[in-house]
Amino acid sequence: MDRQGIIIAIDGPVASGKSTTAREVARRLGYLYIDSGAMYRAVALRALRLGVDLTDEEAVSAVASEAGIYFSEKEGRLRILLDGEDVTEAIRTPEVAEASSHVAAIPEVREALILRQHEMGQAGGVVMDGRDIGTVVFPDAELKVYLTASPEARARRRHAELRTKGIESPLPETERQIRERDARDLQTQTLQSGGLYAKDAVVIDTTRLSIQEQVNTILSLALDRGARTSGPSRG
Ligand code: DC
Repeated sequence: MDRQGIIIAIDGPVASGKSTTAREVARRLGYLYIDSGAMYRAVALRALRLGVDLTDEEAVSAVASEAGIYFSEKEGRLRILLDGEDVTEAIRTPEVAEASSHVAAIPEVREALILRQHEMGQAGGVVMDGRDIGTVVFPDAELKVYLTASPEARARRRHAELRTKGIESPLPETERQIRERDARDLQTQTLQSGGLYAKDAVVIDTTRLSIQEQVNTILSLALDRGARTSGPSRG
């Protein structure tokens, strides 16, 4: 296979800094960044818009298999398209976040999205973040990272992030939502993905790390595993 670089899998719980870190690592290596969580969010948004009962597994699976989900890049930022519409911002609401963890618990939905994720990343030169990337999507990834942080730190980060988007929610409410989603995601991962992280994953506690420190740690691991900073751009 004509590999364009290594595969870097970054997993971790809600608001562990995965996306920001993964995006920056990809930028520094000239790799493609794929946000797998955005795909579950897009399915959730489609189900909400269609008024589908989220506990109806068959109906939600149909919503997933019929969804046209694509990534594109605009001004250097990853955009996600759902049935041709740019939903990059629309999938970031607390309502969609909550719905996405229900949708992600449905085996048929996972099957459909995992297949797509595998196709998108198998050529290499990719950083993909999510929950099961190192365990299920790319068990052979050259580098697997599991980012974690205390629930309090994650709640503070998510609260600040929502605020910059004009979404106001009291900090205790954000923390409650995070713990609730953690519990559901954990159940999904335990039942369907063989656990939180692969045996050969590098676990990084980011509670006291800056994004730059996280990025540098992962970059140096990536260089050790065969990535090249001057590698071909997948832009
Ligand atoms: O990382 P995120 O908050 O954008 O993910 C949204 C939801 O999708 C989250 O509740 C967990 C789920 N998810 C998953 O089950 N597997 C992935 N690879 C990525 C996300």
